[in-house]
Amino acid sequence: MEIINIKNLSFAYSSNPTKMILKDINLKINRGEFILLCGPTGCGKTTLIECLNGLIPHFHSGIFEGHVIIGDKDTRDYPVHEFSKYVGLLFQNPENQLVSMNVEKELSFALENFGINPIEIKARVNDVLKIMNIENIRYKAPYDLSGGQQQKVAIASILTLDPEIIIFDEPTSNLDPVGAMKILALISDLNKRYKKTIILIEHRLEMVLRYATKIIVMNDGKIISKGKTEEIIIEDILEKIGLRIPKSVILYKLLKKDGYNLENIPLTPEDLANYLLKLGG
Ligand SMILES: Nc1ncnc2c1ncn2[C@@H]1O[C@H](COP(=O)(O)OP(=O)(O)O)[C@@H](O)[C@H]1O
Ligand SMILES: [Mg+2]
Repeated sequence: MEIINIKNLSFAYSSNPTKMILKDINLKINRGEFILLCGPTGCGKTTLIECLNGLIPHFHSGIFEGHVIIGDKDTRDYPVHEFSKYVGLLFQNPENQLVSMNVEKELSFALENFGINPIEIKARVNDVLKIMNIENIRYKAPYDLSGGQQQKVAIASILTLDPEIIIFDEPTSNLDPVGAMKILALISDLNKRYKKTIILIEHRLEMVLRYATKIIVMNDGKIISKGKTEEIIIEDILEKIGLRIPKSVILYKLLKKDGYNLENIPLTPEDLANYLLKLGG
C-alpha cells in the first residue's frame, strides 16, 4: 500500500515562473521502502522532496500543478506543521536546523510546540537519545559537536515526532567517509529495525546501494527511470546522466560484455571480494 502518491506534479518557483523545475511527475512510494533518489545537480531533487511535506507550495510559492498525497492527506489542504507528524525532512546542513541551547532542549522543541505534556516529552527524548546512541551528549551545545554528532542530533530531533517517512537530502556531504558510512548505516537501521519509509538523496552510490530497495532516477525535472536497485543498476541510465557508479558494478558490466555473467551484481567491494573468494575456494 502506498504512503506517498504524487499525481501529475509540476512546479515552477515564483521567482522564475516560466521555468518548470518539476515536469509532470507521477510516483507512488510504498510503506517501508528505502528509496534512493538520484540525478545530476540541479535536476530538481531537493525541489521534489520539499513538495513531500508541504514546504512547496506553502512556504516556497510558485506555479503548482497536480497533487501530492501523504497517507490520505493532500498537501494543498493542510499547513506544513501538520505534515511534520508524518514526514521528517533533514536538510543538507544540519547545523542550520539546530537552534537550541543544548541537545536535550533541541529534542524537546518540536514536542513542546505540539503541546505534549512534559512527562511524555522526557520519555520520548530519552528513547530517541538511546536510538541514536547520543545519551552522552545530552547537555552539550550544538556548536560544541562534531559534524557527525550534529547530524545525529538533527536526525534525533526529527525522530521525536515519530514520523513514518524520513527524507534525507545529501546527509553525508559534509562528512568524511567513515562518518558517512556510520550515518548511512544508521539510516538503514531506521528502515530495517524501526520500519521507517526512507527517501535518501545521496551521491556516494558505492556506500548506499546496499541499503536501497528502490532507485528513482531524475533528470531535468522528470523521473526518467525507477525500479528495484538491481534493475536500475543493470540499465546504463546512471552513467548516461553522468553519475558515478561503483567500481564493482563497472567491473560486472565489463565482464558481462565479454560474455562472463556473475550470478549477482556486486553492489559493494565486499560483494565482489566474497564472489572472488568463492571462485578461489
Ligand atoms: N528557491 C528557489 N527559487 C528559484 N529557483 C530555485 C530555487 N531553488 C532551486 N531553484 C532552481 O531549481 C532547479 C532545481 O534545483 P534543486 O531542486 O535544488 O536541484 P537538485 O537538488 O537536484 O540539485 C535549479 O535550477 C535551481 O536553480
Ligand atoms: Mg539538492
